[in-house]
Amino acid sequence: MRVLVCGGTGFVGHALVPMLRHHGHSAVVLTRKSELPVRLVGQGVGILQGDLLSPSVLGLEMGDIDAMILLAAPRLFGKRLGNRRFAQLRTELTTIYSSALELANTRGCPIIIAGGTSFRTVGDQVADETWPIDRFGATSIGEGIDELVEKAVTAKSPKLVWMLAGQIYGPGGMFMTMYRMARKGRAPILGDGNNCLPRIHVDDCAAAFVAALEHVDTLATGERFIVADDVACTSRQFAEELAVLLHVPKPRPPPSFIVKVIIGKRLFESATMNCRVSNAKLKRVLGWAPRYPSFREGLQATLDAIGRGEVTP
Ligand SMILES: NC(=O)c1ccc[n+]([C@@H]2O[C@H](COP(=O)([O-])OP(=O)(O)OC[C@H]3O[C@@H](n4cnc5c(N)ncnc54)[C@H](OP(=O)(O)O)[C@@H]3O)[C@@H](O)[C@H]2O)c1
Repeated sequence: MRVLVCGGTGFVGHALVPMLRHHGHSAVVLTRKSELPVRLVGQGVGILQGDLLSPSVLGLEMGDIDAMILLAAPRLFGKRLGNRRFAQLRTELTTIYSSALELANTRGCPIIIAGGTSFRTVGDQVADETWPIDRFGATSIGEGIDELVEKAVTAKSPKLVWMLAGQIYGPGGMFMTMYRMARKGRAPILGDGNNCLPRIHVDDCAAAFVAALEHVDTLATGERFIVADDVACTSRQFAEELAVLLHVPKPRPPPSFIVKVIIGKRLFESATMNCRVSNAKLKRVLGWAPRYPSFREGLQATLDAIGRGEVTP
């Protein structure tokens, strides 16, 4: 397939684009930049310069496209998420998804879009794809997306598959902030650390997108897949395992009131939610299996890759 990857220059894109090539597909990356990142150059990847926030993106010449993958999104983390930034990012995110869906509509091709595992579970409850997405805290930034998806599914155009990923870690993206903090002995734990959050190694996440792409013809529009590894993991377990592998003392979470001031109430609320999920549908329907079944194998592989300098910028 000839696949247009919007956001192919980002953290997941760096893992996904070479994997598409490996599976015999050809990839064209839509980016606002004029050049591809160094690691994607020389791999037969095409580049299309465009901004999904600009209406001009709809008129770009791109030849025949068999499918689209949407990874483009503004970065939520790394800066305080106050009211003004939240409102601005929500508008940006909705516009990006709206433009991408419109692109797929006019090209008559299916689109696989990225989302998150926003489900609040209690005790031993495990959420699956039949659960409604629960928008609260920072995740309410995606309310506009829910409406766009509903419209596209009702109209049966464009054909859409929704990949709901847990927290993605690996050598790049926001994980590098966590890694740097952990190395300094500062705890990347928010709240008391006893909440579960689904995790997925970036390579396994990319493999799930490839599997969805290769099954897209057989899937119903609006189909959703939870993308997470096999093991429920608390924030504390993840941070402690990282500390062990880095040979630094076990982290102690900073006081919540300070964290709330630094990152904003919304981010704090979503980072401390309890969310346990099942990846059974992804395995059963798409034949996907994680290379890193838990954070333990995944973190070790991540640190090995960082050691080799294979970090996504
Ligand atoms: N990382 C996680 O833990 C996580 C968890 C669940 C879901 N997700 C979702 O998975 C997707 C991929 O995440 P990621 O971590 O790979 O993101 P990322 O590293 O921040 O990459 C975002 C990408 O979006 C592109 N982009 C941003 N604004 C754009 C615009 N206006 N027009 C065109 N492209 C634009 C950027 O491309 P250029 O700068 O080259 O234009 C970049 O390649 C996102 O939708 C994210 O919300 C991520």
